[in-house]
Amino acid sequence: MTSKLFTPYPLRELTLKNRMVVSPMCQYSAVDGNASDWHTIHIGSLLTSGAGLFMLEATAVEARGRITPDCLGLWNDENADALHAVLKAVRKYSSMPVGVQLCHAGRKASAHKPFVGRGPLQADEGAWPVIGPSPVPFAEGWQTPQAMNREDMDTVIAAFVAAAKRADQIGIDLIELHAAHGYLMSSFLSPLANHRDDEYGGSLENRMRFPLEIFDAVRKVWPAEKPLGVRCNGTDWHEEGIHADDAVAFARALQQHGCDFIDVSSGGNAYVKVPIGPGYQVPYAERIKQEVGIATIAVGLINTAVQAESIVTEDKADLVAVGRAVLNNPHWPWQVAEELDGSVEVPWQYFRAATKKGVPPPYVR
Ligand SMILES: Cc1cc2nc3c(=O)[nH]c(=O)nc-3n(C[C@H](O)[C@H](O)[C@H](O)COP(=O)(O)O)c2cc1C
Repeated sequence: MTSKLFTPYPLRELTLKNRMVVSPMCQYSAVDGNASDWHTIHIGSLLTSGAGLFMLEATAVEARGRITPDCLGLWNDENADALHAVLKAVRKYSSMPVGVQLCHAGRKASAHKPFVGRGPLQADEGAWPVIGPSPVPFAEGWQTPQAMNREDMDTVIAAFVAAAKRADQIGIDLIELHAAHGYLMSSFLSPLANHRDDEYGGSLENRMRFPLEIFDAVRKVWPAEKPLGVRCNGTDWHEEGIHADDAVAFARALQQHGCDFIDVSSGGNAYVKVPIGPGYQVPYAERIKQEVGIATIAVGLINTAVQAESIVTEDKADLVAVGRAVLNNPHWPWQVAEELDGSVEVPWQYFRAATKKGVPPPYVR
């Protein structure tokens, strides 16, 4: 029987060759937002992984919207040139589509990269002022963000638009807006961070307003043939935060605005204990898929071929994103292909090591 995981999946004019997505993963290896040699190694290895889509890490649309000083950016032309150079080099060896996750970290910007320290940067470590929906810090010891006024919102929207245009110019195939994990868009959605009493706070309809404005502005400049989706939280894992019903309503609103897919993650609006386990976020993707009928990506501890296949065959999600499993084994999709009798693109240089299911990319000379 043919594996559904290895069937193509269309999103607008882009057709993914299979249903596996390399999840966005920050590398904290950029210099002033510019991709580095590490990106050539990292993207190069994952573009030969055989997945259907590679999603670039959270990429800042403004310098003050970086999570850490070393986050990747697309806030200026120099950033775009650096990323373009990396992509030009690695894409010679892979036909895998490349998406970018555009991000503004909001009140969680100006933080340490995880393997150096924890929590926010201090003034003597180069901290910069942060913005958010309300003057409410993420947690004790974090900066109090400056509450955004209309002008700040317009500036951020313009930054998303400019970054999207740069992404198009350097040949990126798909955009995912980062509206999860407590970053700016997510913080507007969550009552934990959004205490506004204007038309951007209070009801869910109001809290969705700014994220939808960003979505609309990006959709307007992003080419009609290219997909635009959103990563959002299925839950904040907090009584006073976002719940599955809110995520469903947000997904429905996004669909009405022309969104192509929802990548369903969770958490990050407060320090909370997350009940992690295999496929722990899948039920949230499933609810959105079933109730809204929009394409969904499930993510979170999807580590085996059987698990990934069952998620798509049981219609819990259309695509599965995989993070740590592909860092651990960048050829994880080759292994999945072997188990499920699927086939993946394999660079001709590695062809003798590949299984009988490997197909050499057609573009190799
Ligand atoms: C090193 C690392 C960096 C990450 N960076 C991002 C990121 O840039 N954007 C994002 O939405 N999620 C990020 N995540 C979360 C992953 O995309 C993914 O949702 C999460 O790791 C769960 O999937 P997994 O169990 O397959 O790893 C990161 C995870 C890891 C391990």
